[in-house]
Amino acid sequence: MNQKHILIVGGTGMLAEVTSCLASEHLVTVIGRDPERMAKVVRRNPETCYSLLLDYRSEQDLSKGLQESIKRYGPFKQIIAWVHRDSGKAMQIILNHSSHADVLHILGSQANSEQEKRSLCINEHQTYRQVQLGAIYEHETWRWLTHEEIVKGILTALHQQFDYQCIGMNKEEFDAHKRKNE
Ligand SMILES: NC(=O)c1ccc[n+]([C@@H]2O[C@H](COP(=O)([O-])OP(=O)(O)OC[C@H]3O[C@@H](n4cnc5c(N)ncnc54)[C@H](OP(=O)(O)O)[C@@H]3O)[C@@H](O)[C@H]2O)c1
Repeated sequence: MNQKHILIVGGTGMLAEVTSCLASEHLVTVIGRDPERMAKVVRRNPETCYSLLLDYRSEQDLSKGLQESIKRYGPFKQIIAWVHRDSGKAMQIILNHSSHADVLHILGSQANSEQEKRSLCINEHQTYRQVQLGAIYEHETWRWLTHEEIVKGILTALHQQFDYQCIGMNKEEFDAHKRKNE
């Protein structure tokens, strides 16, 4: 078995199923703040799922936590990062600690993917890919993705080669669809 050390940032919320699924085969370090939410996820795979309880908006705590995790379990080979937009340098610090990893950056529906990428410094040894959470048009109305759709989209994306992928319809497609139907 090719066991990797994987970092999942925000892996206790809508990505909890992604964490459990990957921790059944790999060593997974999960970042979150809430101890109860974290315990619920770690409990599912206590041997392979490690908690990193910190607020990623604190640059010092994040750097220290990532360094300790790498020291203990080895370099990250895969990153799945769901980082809120108002989080300062968090995404850059995560990239700085994953120099040889495949980085899957999860973007919310309102994010500008080009701008997000331009704002980051990506090194030549890491791959940086984006998965954006879109919307679904169904029964003549729009809805957000369900957690199941998000989890399925991300697990599928892990095995594919692309720079950008959207689960559902992204903002441009959404706006174009709306204009066409006005
Ligand atoms: N297009 C779409 O369909 C779409 C797009 C975006 C969101 N959504 C929906 O919106 C819901 C709410 O979004 P959400 O972001 O609250 O999702 P969430 O995934 O349920 O929660 C955020 C995750 O990030 C962690 N986190 C947040 N801020 C943190 C910080 N400063 N430091 C460390 N960890 C932090 C949380 O842990 P702690 O709780 O422990 O802090 C949790 O694991 C989601 O459930 C999703 O269904 C849908």
